[in-house]
Amino acid sequence: MADWLAALDRRAQLRAKAGLTRRLHPRPADDRMTDLAGNDYLGLATHPEVTAAATAALSAYGLGATGSRLVRGSTDAHRALEEDLARWLGTDGALVFSSGYLANLGALRALVQPRTLLVSDAHNHASLIDGCRLSGAETVVTPHADVDAVAAALAAAPGRPAVVVTESVFSVDGDLAPLARLHAVARRHGALLLVDDAHALVLTGQIGRTWVWERVEI
Ligand SMILES: Cc1ncc(COP(=O)(O)O)c(C=O)c1O
Repeated sequence: MADWLAALDRRAQLRAKAGLTRRLHPRPADDRMTDLAGNDYLGLATHPEVTAAATAALSAYGLGATGSRLVRGSTDAHRALEEDLARWLGTDGALVFSSGYLANLGALRALVQPRTLLVSDAHNHASLIDGCRLSGAETVVTPHADVDAVAAALAAAPGRPAVVVTESVFSVDGDLAPLARLHAVARRHGALLLVDDAHALVLTGQIGRTWVWERVEI
């Protein structure tokens, strides 16, 4: 076996020895377990209106997008969904990705210019961490929910484009980001605030133009 393949094997063995091997646990369609680990907080995955619409879309459009969105993969169903989402959220627009991971990669890459500084919370989800890395921008990781550290990182990079990156409800601990204070600090330094709202949408705050800033802080 080539050396580098043997090295991969050794790494897998070390992971196993340390008890870090992850395994998939497929569930049956009629699973009766109470789900306390998934993200389907609103029960939309099995909501009759949602499954009926998905069935109708499958009949009308077939399975899969048939191409990337920029080529043949954008349908009028995508457009209707994005217009509905934007209206509902009170935003200028919406862009649907096929996963949260891809949304974070896409958003971060799109916001970065050559001198951009990213200021990322230490508890951010792996997709935000990968997004920061793949964007190629310099990234400062600040201690969890530490607004002073964010302010200091921004103050140390005067005149540079900067994006503060956080979740709203953190995925692992379930605590809330100090969004109002982060927003104020970002504003003061002319930075953008990028919020991954995966675990909060509809569950906290209010819908509309100001919803994201009005959450209760810890
Ligand atoms: C905060 C957060 N962002 C992004 C993701 C990635 O979403 P997806 O699993 O749809 O790629 C997750 C996944 O759990 C998440 O918790």
